[in-house]
Amino acid sequence: MRTLIYNIGTLTGVLPEEVLRLQGREMDSVRSIDNAYLVIEDDRIAEFGQQNAELLQNSGHFDNIINAGQGMVLPSFCDSHTHLVYAGCRDGEFRDKIAGLSYEEIAARGGGILNSADLLHNTSEEELYRQSMVRIREIISMGTGAVEIKSGYGLTTEDELKMLRVIRRIKETSPLVVRSTFLGAHAVGRRYTGRQEEYVDLICREMLPNVAAENLADYVDVFCDKGFFTVPQTERILECAARYGLRPKIHANELEVSGGVQAGVRHNALSVDHLERTTDAEIQALSGTDTMPTMLPGTSFFLGIPYGRARDYINSGLGIALASDYNPGSSPSGNMRFIMALGCIRMKLTPEEALNATTVNSAYAMGVSGITGSITPGKKANLIITESVPSLAFIPYSHQTPFIRHHILNGKIWNKA
Ligand code: NIG
Ligand code: FE
Repeated sequence: MRTLIYNIGTLTGVLPEEVLRLQGREMDSVRSIDNAYLVIEDDRIAEFGQQNAELLQNSGHFDNIINAGQGMVLPSFCDSHTHLVYAGCRDGEFRDKIAGLSYEEIAARGGGILNSADLLHNTSEEELYRQSMVRIREIISMGTGAVEIKSGYGLTTEDELKMLRVIRRIKETSPLVVRSTFLGAHAVGRRYTGRQEEYVDLICREMLPNVAAENLADYVDVFCDKGFFTVPQTERILECAARYGLRPKIHANELEVSGGVQAGVRHNALSVDHLERTTDAEIQALSGTDTMPTMLPGTSFFLGIPYGRARDYINSGLGIALASDYNPGSSPSGNMRFIMALGCIRMKLTPEEALNATTVNSAYAMGVSGITGSITPGKKANLIITESVPSLAFIPYSHQTPFIRHHILNGKIWNKA
């Protein structure tokens, strides 16, 4: 099956095959081709370039022809940090939050993650899949083509496995590139209140072996932060997970400077995420490593906490990724275009940096930049064809104006129906 997309105003986000992430100053440049075409073979990008008259004369060689109407073509967003498999929602806590309770105060009163764990416990696997697929369709309609999804609202062996099986089913049935992360250490399950070390034992002795036996996770995560898991507990879990070949992607420095970044670096984490609280020591610890610092500005927006120091990271030569953190407690949105806008408006990224942070670098942060995240021959044809927009900057700038004409996933136009 050969598909031609022609009449592309600007083809944006072109990268050579060998570039798997962008760092420092490289982040501020996006390669584009004006007046372009792109050829898809089956589900892959085959070739692209500047449009010429010959191309259209040979249009009989294609099974499918799409007129981009002078819109831009961009790689689909890659969202490398979400918790989008959850039951119900936490709109009641929204009122507590408005009344002035902090995230930690809501959690300390038994709300927060434990509230979602109770809801999930009382929801069947089938129903959980159904609710999650509504969110999957929602993020696809907003331009996401790859997503990482975490467990962590189970907090018992049985319920963690239930969540991970739902993620596996999403992997099998949705058109997205999906990666799955085991986050048993998201909070201490209710039955273990006051017995945190025993809960860590449960993760190491029971949860991880079962997750590995069913091959349900690509990565392991720990919420290494004040009131959640300590650095020694985090390292114990990461050591156990390493025996099953699970590389870390960890939550660190959301609530305080936790030491989680350094722990992640010591264990060769693929990414360390949140980083709302950062000293220069974290920036130094990450320099020269393979770990992608990932910031979640939707969480800063929703919780009213500081934004990550993206400029300082980039100015020191590091790359950063941006992700949505889509979850019911701290970021109930998976809108990556809004994440781009927050990156520009609140973190002072250029539109080019924000695009790279939500495509190639976020693909790297979920281990898929070899197959998606840029316009590169051989990569998956996961592409956004935009309405006619005047520039790349318009996308984060006028961030509520509808901008997607077509979302192409695996080489085919995606329809919501
Ligand atoms: O990334 N920080 C920990 N986990 C999520 C919030 C989860 C929740 O509140 O349900 C986060 O912000
Ligand atoms: Fe998170």
